[in-house]
Amino acid sequence: MLFFKLLSLAFCFVVAICLTASNAVAADGDKLTFDAEKFTTKSVTVDGQVVAYRAYDGIVYAAKPVDVQYQRMNLYVPTAYYEGKALGRFNVDTAPIFMPNMVGGYMPGMPGTPGVDRRGGPNAIAVALSKGFVVAAPGVRGRTLRDESGRFTGKAPACIVDLKAAVRYLRHNDKSMPGDAEKIISNGTSAGGALSALIGATGNAPDYLPYLKDIGAAEERDDIFASSCYCPITNLDHADAAYEWTFGGLSEYKFRGRSGKLSEDQVNISDALKRQFPAYLDSLALKTDEGAPLSLDENGEGSFKDYVKSFAIASAQKALDDGKDLSSYPWLTIEEKTVKDLDFGQFIKFMGRGKTPPAFDALDLRSPENNLFGTALVDNQRFTEYSREHSTDHSIADQAVVRTMNPMNFIGAKGVATAKYWRIRHGAADNDTSLAIPAILSAKLRNAGCVVDFKAPWGVPYSGDYDLTELFGWFEKIAAGD
Ligand code: DHB
Repeated sequence: MLFFKLLSLAFCFVVAICLTASNAVAADGDKLTFDAEKFTTKSVTVDGQVVAYRAYDGIVYAAKPVDVQYQRMNLYVPTAYYEGKALGRFNVDTAPIFMPNMVGGYMPGMPGTPGVDRRGGPNAIAVALSKGFVVAAPGVRGRTLRDESGRFTGKAPACIVDLKAAVRYLRHNDKSMPGDAEKIISNGTSAGGALSALIGATGNAPDYLPYLKDIGAAEERDDIFASSCYCPITNLDHADAAYEWTFGGLSEYKFRGRSGKLSEDQVNISDALKRQFPAYLDSLALKTDEGAPLSLDENGEGSFKDYVKSFAIASAQKALDDGKDLSSYPWLTIEEKTVKDLDFGQFIKFMGRGKTPPAFDALDLRSPENNLFGTALVDNQRFTEYSREHSTDHSIADQAVVRTMNPMNFIGAKGVATAKYWRIRHGAADNDTSLAIPAILSAKLRNAGCVVDFKAPWGVPYSGDYDLTELFGWFEKIAAGD
């Protein structure tokens, strides 16, 4: 009797555990279910036209969020879709999903909203709605966030993990949500451009799975259709060497109100970092579209330099074609309205050095990137071998984490689905990172079979979203499969 009592007790116990477990799953599952009725109706004016939209504000996209203020997204849908109308070539189910992030400086980024941008025009979200896109604007954690106990909660790779969780939420609810989760187009500027590159490059990569599990992300694919990246501050672990390969000859710097001349120590650091670059570049075995190798000799000269220069020449040519007067640049050779040559050294001098070496992995641990690579308990860390060697305590960030923040590690890798379409912009007057960085990214993507539109628009400094007409023209073209 006692045996049966014990058996039935054990049975109840097991059933209770199972119920608790299945409740937990159900509860988590519920948390990730889209509620189509929970919206308000709003409007925004774009070029004099009033665009009404449904606003689903603040959808929490992870079942176990760490910081619910940031791990949420705003979803916007043109109201016209609910009135049986088509917008352009799209309807409520086929509309591509524009996914902008608001991250700058690897800081926390709140979910974006339609409105006016810094130039006083409609921002990218407002323009997207006016063109019939569904907008999913996720917030993501960033490097300065802390929980109540003071632990840091937004160090790398939190920002990309959150973006992936948002993609997974969209896919999880694709049937009941407006827009086509197979047509997600990411957009961002600077650190946000780097994040856009990461979400585009790293689809379904296993490296992020433990982090995704921790925050209760939906178990779905997280690859996307296309990525738009303005001045991506990316490839951080090689950006110091690229910076000195580019600006190494310049001893004066000027950046965000600070200016001066490099010290003798800094010149030595610059030389050492510059010498590292050719070996890194050659290790990538990049090729032109025609299959010719992109390489550099030990002095940093070679076909890769010509490749980078070709983007500067194309930029000058476009400016000339658009009617700009380039006669004040003696380092451009222009014959019969054609830019025949450009003196690369003079072009770089014209850009000017912004940062002091090492530009990203600062020896004094005071760069945004040092702060990005901190941990729950350590605010700032070094992340490259060079800076580790040249520090007093020889500490360095976990290299597995550093790996998760560099799209170059994932493009074309086995088990990874990289976005097919890319639009990358790095202004020809931008010295936040080297022009070599987006050039390398573009070449790697092209070599992996992606369709890449990479340009360095003339006279444009570090900035983003400055050409929304062209940007959305590109979106429309790729979304329609033209
Ligand atoms: C940003 C700019 C930088 O120069 C940098 O190193 C990191 C981030 C930014 O504005 O996002």
